[in-house]
Amino acid sequence: MPKHAELHLEGKSYSLPVLIGSENEKAIDISQLRAETGYITLDHGYGNTGSCTSKITYIDGEKGILRYRGIPIEQLAEQSNFVETSYLLIYGTLPNKLELENFSHTLSHHSLIHEDMLRFYDGYPSTAHPMAILASMVCSLSAYYPDSLNPTDPAQVDQLIPRALSKLRTIAAYSYKKSIGQPVIYPNNSLGFCANFLSMMFAVPSEKYEIDEDIVGALEMLLILHADHEQNCSTSTVRLVGSSLANLFASISAGISALWGPLHGGANQAVMEMLRQIHSNGGDVAAAIKAAKDKENPFRLMGFGHRIYKNYDPRAKIIKKHCDKILSKLKIKDPLLDIAKRLEEAALEDSYFVEKKLYPNVDFYSGVIYQAMGIPMNMYTVMFALGRLPGWIAHWKEMHDQGGNKIGRPRQVYEGEVLTNYRPLAERK
Ligand code: ACO
Repeated sequence: MPKHAELHLEGKSYSLPVLIGSENEKAIDISQLRAETGYITLDHGYGNTGSCTSKITYIDGEKGILRYRGIPIEQLAEQSNFVETSYLLIYGTLPNKLELENFSHTLSHHSLIHEDMLRFYDGYPSTAHPMAILASMVCSLSAYYPDSLNPTDPAQVDQLIPRALSKLRTIAAYSYKKSIGQPVIYPNNSLGFCANFLSMMFAVPSEKYEIDEDIVGALEMLLILHADHEQNCSTSTVRLVGSSLANLFASISAGISALWGPLHGGANQAVMEMLRQIHSNGGDVAAAIKAAKDKENPFRLMGFGHRIYKNYDPRAKIIKKHCDKILSKLKIKDPLLDIAKRLEEAALEDSYFVEKKLYPNVDFYSGVIYQAMGIPMNMYTVMFALGRLPGWIAHWKEMHDQGGNKIGRPRQVYEGEVLTNYRPLAERK
């Protein structure tokens, strides 16, 4: 493997260091490029740009591989739970029994939010999207913990991490309760992380709430699958905001906003909207495929395609496998699952999708399970945020732990007006 790459520019040669990752990922280190040559690189959408080195998550998009801290996602989805996977991502290793108990206990301990924050919900219209509420409420948490916001103090960061994980869950559930006009249900710390969330979502004070272990298991699996995906749009946002030494809550709030977009985490809601639309049009999947291929039509097959995966997204494979199992356990027959499967089959046989290597991504089947669990469509992206939170935290922490923090600040190639004199208003036409 070469140790350097040669760059020839304006008659001069430059030697750029080559970096090889532990899975043989190759990079050319251009950190001195501008200083030495006066040039920068231009990379719209950062498809060729590594912004950091990281030890958290490995993806091979060509082979459809995803591993957290080296462990295949398939093993974690089958054998782990969300709390344990969160610990793995954030602290680097699987916890031993005591570490796991302590971590779970700390998460439970921090499950309440300040009572004053409950009043914030009253200020939102009942039609507010829960992602708008989530982003604002998470940023507002900064106001309540002024003594532990310093990202360069490991003791303060350690205090803040379980708070973030536990309180985001509570905020998410409360935002749903508020949106349907039900009283909020306080956390029940005798329950596990996911069961506690379901109780806050679906219990009412007037009735006993029975926890369905199948639903808890499905939620654990979905949250694990969403827990990290290296330098995606929202995680890069969290890192970029964090690089300015913004506190953890502010950085996560920015990540939530990035996740909301339909090209990122918002796609799970968009998929269900699309499936419902196809269903109401008589289930005509061929028409949807045709529209997605039409360059004059802005419609895209939501839940299809990925910047990194040029093969089946391993997360979609796991979710698809569980869809039938979970729906039949819950005795639900959902025509949308049937449409999703037919859509996938048609797309994977179509040369447009085959040639562009467009496969179902994590969002394609997740909505079908969320729907079966009784989670409303506008909460799907909130569920994604809940799942992605340990990943955001892990990356934010890793960036600070690595030391030598540099504020993230890309450059540009300016294409605007050259020097132009100011013209007073009276002289302008
Ligand atoms: N339907 C139809 N055509 C598509 C789709 C799609 N879902 N996705 C990509 N294409 C086409 C594009 O039109 C483009 O065609 P062209 O080369 O003829 O212009 C080509 O495939 C490459 O697409 P890009 O948008 O350039 O690929 P990019 O890597 O930038 O985008 C993305 C990836 C945003 C995920 C894209 O595939 C997409 O919009 N998918 C639908 C939205 C979605 O499911 N997002 C969730 C992603 S997973 C996540 O964030 C959790």
